[in-house]
Amino acid sequence: MAKTTTHFVCGDCGHTEVRWYGRCPGCSAYGTLTEFREARDAGAGKGAGKGARGFQSTLETDTRAAKPVPLREIDARSAARLPVVPEEISRVLGGGLVEGSVVLLGGEPGVGKSTLLTGLALDWVRRGVRVLYVAGEESPAQIRLRAERLGFKPEREEGFEILAEVRLEPLLESLDAALAAHDGPAVIIADSIQTLHGDQVDSYPGSPTQIRYCGGTLADLARRRGCPVFLVGHVTKSGDLAGPKLLEHMVDTVLYFEGSGGGAIRLVRAVKNRFGTTGELAVLEMRQDGLIPVDDAGALFLGGRDGNEPGAAVCAVRNGSRVFLVEVQALVASSRYGTPQRVVQGVDGKRVALLAAILEKRAGLDLAGCDVFVKVAGGARLDDPAADLAILTALASSLRERPLPPGTLVVGEVGLTGELRPAAALSERLREAGRHGFQRAVCAAQKGSTPPQTPAGLTAIAARSVEEAVALALEPAATREEG
Ligand code: TYD
Ligand code: MG
Repeated sequence: MAKTTTHFVCGDCGHTEVRWYGRCPGCSAYGTLTEFREARDAGAGKGAGKGARGFQSTLETDTRAAKPVPLREIDARSAARLPVVPEEISRVLGGGLVEGSVVLLGGEPGVGKSTLLTGLALDWVRRGVRVLYVAGEESPAQIRLRAERLGFKPEREEGFEILAEVRLEPLLESLDAALAAHDGPAVIIADSIQTLHGDQVDSYPGSPTQIRYCGGTLADLARRRGCPVFLVGHVTKSGDLAGPKLLEHMVDTVLYFEGSGGGAIRLVRAVKNRFGTTGELAVLEMRQDGLIPVDDAGALFLGGRDGNEPGAAVCAVRNGSRVFLVEVQALVASSRYGTPQRVVQGVDGKRVALLAAILEKRAGLDLAGCDVFVKVAGGARLDDPAADLAILTALASSLRERPLPPGTLVVGEVGLTGELRPAAALSERLREAGRHGFQRAVCAAQKGSTPPQTPAGLTAIAARSVEEAVALALEPAATREEG
């Protein structure tokens, strides 16, 4: 007999409670908890216990208890990787797509998730990999039109199959049957997870419980069949993946699309990866014929001006294995109305407030009563702590109305007491700056360790404190060469 359980799930973070709260205990958002009733088969629930996901797959429920297996008997080759083209995306995935892995691809509507996956799918079918594309959002005709725009040749390319089904149970049956009858490699793409719904869950498609149930069931299928699954996920207003916490735990890799801010440049970042490093960034351009990797992305986030204006500072940030030169722009203006404003884009507001406070305290600059605006060129996001010094220098440069000399790079992490910490992999950052014609790099002094390797034409200038770094960056006359 089907039993119904009631619980309350936060629409933003997916936190679950047994009673209603006005404020979500998980993410502190107000009024986001909604009631859900789940019909669960009482017998199955009792016998199998409440698994990690609290749900049971409706298909092939295996009731035998698992036996411990010695580690040396585990077949490590099961982590074989399917090649992925373009290389940009392959690198973000950690060097190909691991068989049986589940990848969540998140991003705002229209950013290019379906375009990216269709592009990958076309490359796979050309190499004999079967692609099962679950069309929840668009009609099969729309998918075909997109594929044709991306170079699909109906007479030559086989193995690209569309499943227009959003009910989870029949979908699983079709997928299971298709995979059982096929012994080559195959990839499943579910576009999107928010459109699927299972009968076992008594709530509307796209709700956290449905996402959790459908995501979990597809992840089960991926692991059982050794077939990689892509889940497309939308983001909420606050920029999170809808039901993010639930899905992030369930999947192996989370890729996030960034940079829909008007331009054609799209960034795909790995925020979680069980099979590679996180922080890897792919830089792509949305063109007529799809998403094309950008060749020389190292200087993509520079301002593109000849001379420097006050308030602009360039730092070299690392995203996974790559270095990008990024321009930070700051505007410090005296505030005319009441409370001074702090407006930021592409960088954490609290970090800017902290750096502004350090600048006041340690370098004697007066930012009180000033509006502070900070922006990162090209829609990039600054997470790398080594960008601290560039943000700080940009603020000082704007306040003093004094530009940094052209060709100046500023790299280093700043501590609360105004001490500077050298950036990780400094030589790599300097190499990239040298390649793009930078001549001076103001860095944190490295105590006791060997000085970084500097490329020809670039001089590294070591600063010991915030005050010294600002002076060295803004006043070339004070330049000292590192000894
Ligand atoms: P889409 O992949 O449908 O976005 P998502 O799945 O993330 O919602 O892409 C949407 C945009 O991309 C759409 O505005 C059209 C544009 N686009 C191109 O510019 N070139 C192309 O080749 C394709 C397929 C789409
Ligand atoms: Mg889409």
